[in-house]
Amino acid sequence: MIKKIGILTSGGDAPGMNPAIRAATRTALAKNIDVAFIYNGYAGILNDEIKDNISNKDVGDIINRGGSILGSSRYPEFKAKEVRKKAVSILKSYGIEALIVIGGDGSFKGANLLKPFGIKFIGIPGTIDNDIAGTDETLGFDTCLNTITEAIDNIRDTSSSHHRCIIIETMGRECGDLAIYSGLAGGCDIILPPGDKIDYASIYDTVKTRKLLKKSHTLIIITEMQTDIFEMAKKIQSNTGIDTRATRLGFIQRGGRPSFRDRFLGTIMGYKSIEFLSNDIYNVFVGINGDKITHYSIDNINELTNKSSNYLIEISKVIN
Ligand code: ADP
Ligand code: F6P
Repeated sequence: MIKKIGILTSGGDAPGMNPAIRAATRTALAKNIDVAFIYNGYAGILNDEIKDNISNKDVGDIINRGGSILGSSRYPEFKAKEVRKKAVSILKSYGIEALIVIGGDGSFKGANLLKPFGIKFIGIPGTIDNDIAGTDETLGFDTCLNTITEAIDNIRDTSSSHHRCIIIETMGRECGDLAIYSGLAGGCDIILPPGDKIDYASIYDTVKTRKLLKKSHTLIIITEMQTDIFEMAKKIQSNTGIDTRATRLGFIQRGGRPSFRDRFLGTIMGYKSIEFLSNDIYNVFVGINGDKITHYSIDNINELTNKSSNYLIEISKVIN
């Protein structure tokens, strides 16, 4: 039986991380497992930013807070074996036998590499991007969708008043879910998923046709890193004659109070992470599929495939 765990958050912070920290801490303490907090991701192990003897009180009043009370970081140095070896000796000096890692698949891969040195771990999927196959939703995805949808509503007010075309860029890295789901819920007229070549002729056609149909404006939503949206706006304007602007939503997407859904998922995932560990299940991450709570081995993470959300674009084409 594990006697002590360390909890850390790593990669991009996400609303829902705090409810997960709270649930994992309280479940562990209820099972007589000691808890240590590790601040600022993997960097915090190497910098000895570790607080021991965490109590139930330490996670009071955090269920409604965005971000991560533990702080997070990107720490590429962790890819070096020597750095991980040093991390393990620091963890062992605290008596930490297992880590609860709340983050994305990169963070899970890092923790999995501690296995040969005798440190176990459970992953909790926490990233706004929803880019982890094996779970329907990652922590932070729902809150972020609500933030983006509200931003689309605000942009709609101004684009319809000025009869403009506005391009909205979301985060998401290689995963189009943020743009696709919020584009559908926000009623965007054109949704551009990552990976597809941008069909400018079809965009010009849609924008011009909407003007002919006396539609007051056009909203386009696109995932980051596909193209320079400001250049795209210039192209659309010069080829359609319609005033066009572009806006990058940026980091407002990562913050904010966790939604009901993210608090709920964070609580269940935090609880299950400790339950798995105490049943001697480790080096897996927690996944929720429909009403089934399960776990997946990190070793097979590359074989898992995300459900495609592109069918939502087809729905959007009919509706908008
Ligand atoms: P995410 O966890 O959201 O996918 P990153 O890919 O940036 O975000 O990973 C977060 C951190 O996890 C990295 O900064 C690094 O410290 C660690 N990490 C990522 N990939 C690896 C790897 N292959 N080996 C060791 N550590 C890794
Ligand atoms: O993974 C979450 C995310 O917000 C991505 O959508 C985005 O590309 C990236 O993190 C930004 O990372 P950083 O905060 O390191 O600039």
